[in-house]
Amino acid sequence: MKGVITAGGLGTRLRPLTYVTNKHLLPVYDKPMIYRPIETLVRAGIDEIMLIVGGPFAGDFIRVLKNGEAFGLKHLEYAYQEGEGGIADALRLARSFADNDNVTVILGDNCTNADISEAVREFRGGAMIFLKEIDDPERFGVATIEGGIVKRIVEKPQVPESNLAVTGVYIYDPTVFDKIDKIKPSPRGELEITDLNNQYLEEGQLRWSMLEGYWSDAGSFETLAEVNAYWARKERR
Ligand code: G1P
Repeated sequence: MKGVITAGGLGTRLRPLTYVTNKHLLPVYDKPMIYRPIETLVRAGIDEIMLIVGGPFAGDFIRVLKNGEAFGLKHLEYAYQEGEGGIADALRLARSFADNDNVTVILGDNCTNADISEAVREFRGGAMIFLKEIDDPERFGVATIEGGIVKRIVEKPQVPESNLAVTGVYIYDPTVFDKIDKIKPSPRGELEITDLNNQYLEEGQLRWSMLEGYWSDAGSFETLAEVNAYWARKERR
């Protein structure tokens, strides 16, 4: 199993902070945000990671992470995403790194203390998404579960059918890259990860699990402040 973290984008919602550096290097209490998703992968036993960077501050990551030794990584590789083509467009860059292995993907602003090592160990193909019950699902991809299976996922629905957010943690088999090639840009001009997950769903190959523990994205001032408060409490304990 390999790991991929997406950390591109311009972080426009966090300006003026993101005039200084990439969103994923802003502090989450005592560490840059990007440490949180890296640690999630490391906890799951993954020691080969590709970090997909982008935007004007892509070089800043090297100064912080170097070759990943501080995390115990065997291999840390970087790729550069040109433009803001979306998460699935970023993931496309990991094709040769994945080298026909399965990949666990986590979005660089997804901060969680969840332990996904069992799901990683027991992954047997297709795709796996991790869901979380939340109060404001309209900000996320939203899954409808019926009879224990995912019926559909809708990206940022105005009227959500459930309170189950699709978190930015996914496991994919090697067919993921051919599926990405089939995705057309969404109205916001991006290749959506939700369209990728819906391809697995149509093939009957999408499994799901609840993400246990704390989880939040940190892409807005509100969530960044909240995630900081959570980690401050956690580390002081
Ligand atoms: C992305 C995905 C969305 C997912 C979310 C998790 O949204 O498109 O399906 O629920 O990450 O953080 P974005 O943060 O790009 O708006």
